[in-house]
Amino acid sequence: EGSKLWGGRFVGDTDPIMERFNASIAYDKRMWDADIRGSKAYVKALEKAKLVTTGEMDQILHGMDQIHEEWSKDVFEIKPGDEDIHTANERRLKELIGEPAGKLHTGRSRNDQVVTDMRLWLRDAISSLKGNALQLITTMVERAAVEIDVLFPGYTHMQRAQPIRWSHWILSHAVALSRDLEHLQEIRRRVNVLPLGSGAIAGTPFNIDRELLRQELAFDDISINSMDATGQRDFVAEFLFWASLCLTHLSKMAEDLMLYSTKEFSFLALSDAYSTGSSLMPQKKNADSLELIRSKAGRVFGRCAGFLMTLKGLPSTYNKDLQEDKEAMFDCYDTMQAVLQVTTGVISTLKINRCVMEAALSPDMLATDLAYYLVRKGVPFREAHGISGKAVFMAESKNIPLNQLTVEELRTASPLFAEDVSAVWCYSSSVEQYSAPGGTAKSSVAAQVEHLRTWLKKQ
Ligand code: ARG
Repeated sequence: EGSKLWGGRFVGDTDPIMERFNASIAYDKRMWDADIRGSKAYVKALEKAKLVTTGEMDQILHGMDQIHEEWSKDVFEIKPGDEDIHTANERRLKELIGEPAGKLHTGRSRNDQVVTDMRLWLRDAISSLKGNALQLITTMVERAAVEIDVLFPGYTHMQRAQPIRWSHWILSHAVALSRDLEHLQEIRRRVNVLPLGSGAIAGTPFNIDRELLRQELAFDDISINSMDATGQRDFVAEFLFWASLCLTHLSKMAEDLMLYSTKEFSFLALSDAYSTGSSLMPQKKNADSLELIRSKAGRVFGRCAGFLMTLKGLPSTYNKDLQEDKEAMFDCYDTMQAVLQVTTGVISTLKINRCVMEAALSPDMLATDLAYYLVRKGVPFREAHGISGKAVFMAESKNIPLNQLTVEELRTASPLFAEDVSAVWCYSSSVEQYSAPGGTAKSSVAAQVEHLRTWLKKQ
């Protein structure tokens, strides 16, 4: 037990239960590469400050490369005393190169080391999530381009509202995801700040060139205050919130798709590749992919809320509570990566049922258009709304579709109705009215496709 990094002032052994309770190696070993990168940069700063000789630096660099090799070949052996990845790598370095290993941690603390590792790790994780998100958005935009002529009912309050293009629906979700992607990139800027050289709390007393560290590790900026740098996890909280917000979007889309794929709707069918069956009911084809996407929102919100609870009320600087940051970060990353990939698969393989979608449109969904007909004849909208409402009531009382009311019947509600009212009852001309930017007219939806294609090229 005397082998602990911090063992000097201790006489007794750590209780094995405490040892396990305290250890983070089981999960923070994921940052082995970042930890090695950080140490390799740090030893260069030590050499520049003449705290290690060039020979010692080379030994340390070489040892670190060997450790890298062991990790990448999956042969690195974790030993009982390896509390975390930082301890494990330093312990191994000592075994490999002996004495000079003891100089690596000069002026460094695990407090600045761990947060440097996390920022390096998250930076890469963000790049890969960006790739996943881009693939999903591209899939959605291209699907929207191909199926632009398909119309179906749009819902508000889950009640039949107005005819819309299916592509307008797809793009409504793609646009939300494009915001998520921009948000993620903004977070990356705040992740990409170097804390190394902050020490445990007070900074570094040696001539550690933090600018050299920044360049070696390709950070954009250097942290301004050592106490803040070691004691804050805003970037983790931001990432967890990002994942939460993104999942509100994805679970919303999943919910729509689940509904549309029911027998009652039959607007679309998921591919078998993203569905599962029932062990009891042979006919079942369940949208498990979508249900799991929806469920992951709960999981990730929990991680976000849980970690904020951990942060709340902490005194300043490093406290061991902060060790909780890693499982939340890793889990949200793994979850988001899986969710984005599965969603891409679901969207690219589902089959729409165009006939059913278009047959689901009904004349009552054109009641607004009936009011607009009067507006175009000079009736104030509020009055036109009331007249159209009367027509709806009349049709419902007679138990006939709204478009089956005769012109004479309509004239009892307003004398302005004429034969040309029949033009109102056409879904494809209805959607074409909405040609202002953002609307559901073909030209407008095509412009949305183009907007997103251009945006995608810039990412
Ligand atoms: N495993 C620790 C963590 O994840 C590393 C930092 C420990 N620092 C310390 N002073 N005990 O936060």
